[in-house]
Amino acid sequence: MKLRIDKMLSNVGIGSRKQIKQDARRGHVKVNGVTEIDSSKIIDTDEDNVEYKGEAVKYVQYIYLMMNKPIGVVSATEDNYDRTVVDLLEDEDRFYDPFPVGRLDKDTEGLLLLTNNGQLAHDLLSPRKHVDKTYYAEVEEEVTDDDVKSFAEGITLTNENYRTLPAKLEIIKAGYPSSCYVTIKEGKFHQVKRMFNAVNNEVIYLKRLSMGPVKLDESLKPGEYRNLTEEELSLLMPS
Ligand code: URA
Repeated sequence: MKLRIDKMLSNVGIGSRKQIKQDARRGHVKVNGVTEIDSSKIIDTDEDNVEYKGEAVKYVQYIYLMMNKPIGVVSATEDNYDRTVVDLLEDEDRFYDPFPVGRLDKDTEGLLLLTNNGQLAHDLLSPRKHVDKTYYAEVEEEVTDDDVKSFAEGITLTNENYRTLPAKLEIIKAGYPSSCYVTIKEGKFHQVKRMFNAVNNEVIYLKRLSMGPVKLDESLKPGEYRNLTEEELSLLMPS
């Protein structure tokens, strides 16, 4: 991206454009190793190396992270009692104020996207967009073919007069406990757990494997995260 030095540095939170202009005049800004006193010069954020007060400045306007959320942390930016997913980020990533795209329960693990791009988060969470979310679930009682049918028809959630959209239930192992994959198109509070409750079952372990076109990178251990790749981003934001 091509933009003015002062805009680039202020976008990443270094200071106001006025302050950056003064700092550049004082020789605090270098472009490709050469002092640049004119902060209105245009640089290319992909090509040029910009330094401010001797530190390289990485230009990231938006940040897109994939985390393997561990059990025991909450999907929030702040919490009075529990550690949050944002607490697990390095300072250099937290700097961009990312927030979790939707919520996983405290006792659920797996794929959680974090970004500071509100539009993308909104698009992924919008109930109208029906973004598929696939989970691996272990449940206490035996899952049956009747459950598969009930999920496919939509489940009326206990204590709520709401019928879910059709969901896909694939049995991996039927028994005590059973394991399965569940794909839902909404993100109602405790949805997967409540869907199983409605068919007299109980989730004992839940892990999200994918959200829309993005799959959990299984090389990430619980609590680890990484930037989304260009390819994953282009899947999320087809132009
Ligand atoms: N459904 C649940 O019940 N919990 C989650 O964390 C996600 C989906």
